Formats: sequence, C-alpha cells, structure tokens
Amino acid sequence: MKGQPAARQSSIPATRQSSIPATRQSSIPATRQSSIVATRQSSIVVRPQPMDSATYTASSRLQAAGLIRAQELLEQCAAMVPLPPPARPVTIADYGAANGYNSLLPIGAAIAAVRARTRPDHAIVVTHTDVAANDFTALFSTLNEDQDSYLAADGAAFATALGRSFYQQILPSDSITLGWSSWATHWLSRLPAAIGDHIHISHSTDEPARRAFTRQAAEDWHDFVAFRGRELAPGGRLVVLTLAVDDDGRAGFGPLMDALHDGLGKLAAEGVITAAEVTRMAIPTVGRAEEELRAPFAPSGRFEGLSVEHLETFDAEDRFWMRYQHDGDAEKLGARWAGFARAAVFPTLTTALDGGTADPRATEFSERLQATVAAGLARSPAPMSIPLAVLVLAKQHRPE
Ligand SMILES: C[S@@+](CC[C@H](N)C(=O)[O-])C[C@H]1O[C@@H](n2cnc3c(N)ncnc32)[C@H](O)[C@@H]1O
Repeated sequence: MKGQPAARQSSIPATRQSSIPATRQSSIPATRQSSIVATRQSSIVVRPQPMDSATYTASSRLQAAGLIRAQELLEQCAAMVPLPPPARPVTIADYGAANGYNSLLPIGAAIAAVRARTRPDHAIVVTHTDVAANDFTALFSTLNEDQDSYLAADGAAFATALGRSFYQQILPSDSITLGWSSWATHWLSRLPAAIGDHIHISHSTDEPARRAFTRQAAEDWHDFVAFRGRELAPGGRLVVLTLAVDDDGRAGFGPLMDALHDGLGKLAAEGVITAAEVTRMAIPTVGRAEEELRAPFAPSGRFEGLSVEHLETFDAEDRFWMRYQHDGDAEKLGARWAGFARAAVFPTLTTALDGGTADPRATEFSERLQATVAAGLARSPAPMSIPLAVLVLAKQHRPE
C-alpha cells in the first residue's frame, strides 16, 4: 500500500449505521443510515505541480486550490481562538483530509499562528479524518516526508488520523480548538437517487432526482454542521471550503460533466457498457447556494451552539485553462481534465458496472472513457467554472 496515491482508493463500506448518544440530540437524528456508495478521491484539481516540478511553489500549491482565502481565514481564527491551558493540548481537526497533501500548508499556518501565542512546548495535536477506506498510508507518508509537513516545522506538533465519516460525531464533545475542511463536504453521504439524464445532478432535468439530491444535500450539511457543533470547544472555529454554485445554479465543471456524459453514451453505443449501467452511473456531489449553507442556522442564526461568522463565495482559478492559454495545446488541456476525472470520479462510476470495481471490464472502461473525455474536451476547449464557498463557523463561548 505504501506510496499508493489517495486517488486509487477503492471500496467504501456500502452501509454504515451511525448511532448518536442519547444526550444532546436536539438537531441530529438519533440513528442515521448512511450508505456511502461513492469512492472518494483526492482532488487532482486542487493538487498543483508535483513537488519536484520546476514550476512548483508554495503559492501555486494553494492558489490552484482556491485555498488561499480559506487559509487566511484559518490563520485569523488561530490568532484569536481561545486556547486551552498548557497542560491540555491545542487540538486541530482536518475533516476529509485524503492524503493530506493539501492540508499541510493551511494546517501548518494555523499551527504557526497558535504557536505565536503559546510556549514552544505547548502540545498541538492535529487529527486528520477521512472515511475508513481512505489511503491513510499515503497520508502518513505525506506527514512524514513532505517538505512542508508541520511535523518537521514544529517540535511540539503531533499528528493522528481517524477513519470515520464526518456525518457522525467522531471526536469528543467540546474538544476541538480549530476545525478545517476543504473540498470534502460537497460529497454526499450516499447517492440519493439514480439520475435519468445526466452524470451530474446539476445538469439534469430529472425532477424527482433533483429533489432527492436537494434533500440529501440539506440533510448532510445539517448533520455535518451539527456534529461539528458538538465537537468544537467553546469559542472554537471551523473553516470550511466547499463547492458552491455558479451563476446558472450549477456546481461548476460544466464542460467536463458534459464530456463525461457524452463519453458514457459513446461507450454504451460501442457496447463497452450497457444502458442499464449508464443509468446507474452518477457523481454524488452537490454545489450549495449561500442560502442552503445558511439553512441550518435559520431563523435564529444559531445552530448546535454555532453561528456563521463569515461566508463568501468566489470562483477558483482553472489552472488547466491558464496553462492552455499559455501553451495553446488543446490536447494537453483535454488530457489534464480527463486525468483529473479519472482520479476523481471514475472509481465511483466503476462501482455501477455489473461486476462493480472487480468487473473484468473495469480497466478497459476507465481507459476508453478517459480517452473519449480527453478527445471531447480537446475538440472544444473551454474554461471550467469552479464555484467555491468558504465559511467560518464559530462556537459560542461558555456563558460567564
Ligand atoms: C477531494 S478530497 C479533498 C482532500 C483535501 N481536503 C483537499 O482539500 O484536497 C475529498 C476528501 O473528502 C473525503 N470525504 C468525503 N466524504 C467524506 C465523509 N463522509 N467523511 C469523511 N471524509 C469524507 C474523501 O474521502 C476525500 O478524501
């Protein structure tokens, strides 16, 4: 397993029961069935140049991800959040860490901001969380080996990892000083419905499916926020970077989604996959509009002790398009996006083959779909919109 990229994770348990303790159940369903049918992937689009690339710089690493703004907010939170006394560690949770690569700079910056307020030996413990099927070996390699690892930079920083879905309580109540989650909460806990006419719900006119996705998105966001409300310490802060919606109300990546949809149709016409398999294939992600992100907090502005301290939406830069504008190479543009799609969503699509990920056609399916998507995007080069939202959620202080 060592060295295997997070983008090659395979199966996620089909069904997971999350039992909520009897205490403090106000907003969270007592028992929630969360069937995770998707394979979660590390986002290549947020992973810029490889570490040894001549063009690698710390700023491109963050800029590409739309992470710079979120990191600034996390640093601001780290500079003012209440800290526990020295005998107790400062605790930072990273929700949906994947291989940890994109967490290093933001978490490292937060640690530096906290450290400016503490003695050098005040322990800071970071817990990187993800689903159980995540490639935690890759995460530990990143933490141990990456030149930007906070473990090398701070002698009293410690890393731990946790393999459970963030749609349940996974850390002790009132224990987390700072929370961070980037590019993760737009993955739904399950695929709520088959989508009749497209690979992605925001391109579909299938009304029952759209309603099912909207409901699931609301429920998952409600649960994510509620459980973080329990876990954050009084006065703690959580910064979330997640997919928003563009001016058309869609979750972005339009040309790629269409190329995937067209590619699947082509593969079905060529007999590589069946029409029934195409119908089962869907990407269980959503973009959320500002009012959807604020919904759990309505009408009082408070929810599970949390309030929205900051919310902004913006478009992340499409770094593949920027490179295309520089080199004019449409084939490379198509190949880059097809490579991203293969890493990010093909394993999810493959689960819909009759034989699942073990189907004997799985490799051929991925290779042909990648080639078809690359060719389609190269034929009509177009920029992708990448709408993002960043929020800071604040947990109320203990009453004096
Ligand atoms: C696109 S990656 C983002 C990784 C990293 N945070 C970044 O910014 O690049 C999304 C991660 O969220 C994780 N994820 C999705 N749903 C999750 C859940 N219910 N619980 C925990 N992690 C989840 C996926 O497994 C995946 O590793």
